[in-house]
Amino acid sequence: MTYNFDEIIERHGTGCVKHDMLLQHYGRTDLTAMWVADMDFRSPDCISEAIRRRSEHPVYGYSFSTESYRKTMLSWLSRHYGIEAERDQLHFIPGIVAGIAFALMAFTHEDDKILVLTPVYPPFINLPDGSGRTLVASQLKIENGRFAIDFDDLRNKARGCKMMIMANPHNPGGTVWSADDLRKVAAICAENHVMVIDDEIHADLTLPGYQHTAFPLVSKEAAENCLMFFSPSKTFNIAGLSSSICYVGNDELRQRFYGFLDTYEIAHGNVFSIVGAEAAYTHGEEWLSQLLDYLAGNVAFTSDFLKREMPEVKAVMPEASYLAWLDFSAYGYPHAETWQRLLDRAHVALNDGTTFGGKAYENCFRINIGCPRSVLNDVLQRIAKAME
Ligand SMILES: Cc1ncc(COP(=O)(O)O)c(C=O)c1O
Repeated sequence: MTYNFDEIIERHGTGCVKHDMLLQHYGRTDLTAMWVADMDFRSPDCISEAIRRRSEHPVYGYSFSTESYRKTMLSWLSRHYGIEAERDQLHFIPGIVAGIAFALMAFTHEDDKILVLTPVYPPFINLPDGSGRTLVASQLKIENGRFAIDFDDLRNKARGCKMMIMANPHNPGGTVWSADDLRKVAAICAENHVMVIDDEIHADLTLPGYQHTAFPLVSKEAAENCLMFFSPSKTFNIAGLSSSICYVGNDELRQRFYGFLDTYEIAHGNVFSIVGAEAAYTHGEEWLSQLLDYLAGNVAFTSDFLKREMPEVKAVMPEASYLAWLDFSAYGYPHAETWQRLLDRAHVALNDGTTFGGKAYENCFRINIGCPRSVLNDVLQRIAKAME
């Protein structure tokens, strides 16, 4: 079967953040939404069918991670990440941001230092900041159009930190970290007694030609010192089902974290999150493989367009997922003017780069290219015109 990712799906009025909350976030609704990280594609039918079947039973009582759900998660972890885990090393979590929040609560206290690589997905900044922890940011460099870790800086900054929160692959920009990068991160963190929260939500969307490495596999110190989160939510466009999984190899960390989750009873699935995730990981492979080809096509299309029509833009294009990072500084406009041009002239809602790490990212914006190519083409044309 061939899936049609060119189909335009009307999402307004479905209560989705991306299209229905433009007014709250941008003060207007006349924008094409290219911000929140979900895709404008139909999720695979296997998921909606499984949910429909379950919804036909009229009792929606408490649910749990069934044995078949657990087996399916273990199998995905083995086939896609190369990790051979045991049943009790996994725990359901109702979303990865929630999982990170729980980890902050379980392992850190107010004033503890939390290390991140900026620019980064805003909750990695807002969660520590908002909970009285002290954020320590190691700024990424850009080398050959991709993010690169400044290991000297990371080593200096890691001293005295309690935890590092890391996206593997990275958001924004979708940089796929090499096994060597990850091994160095693991060594620096281990030397400094910094535990690692390894967020692999974008891993399944590693594009053809790139090689993702699961963090726990790179070294013994990595395996023994991290919580790894993964999820079908980005992969199959089911973020609204709030269905994610935690894997912890180390006994002590696992007992402490899963003990925390179970004591406070904060990590239960709901009927549809369990059913949807199981269907996705059981029957979604072919859809995913076609999605990756389509996304790779969108990346190539965007790169070509930028080179041809907006050579001023310095871009970090995704090696995984669909979140490109665009730096408009070379146009010479102040940040506020670039922003106004994008809103008033292009009528496009992008993410403001400053929310990914502050003033250093003025004139940078994140664009979500997980949409039909006709929409992407239209948006890019409008941005190019708006920047003239
Ligand atoms: C790196 C990263 N982690 C977590 C999330 C959100 O995860 P969840 O919806 O499971 O909380 C996102 C969404 O964009 C993300 O990019």
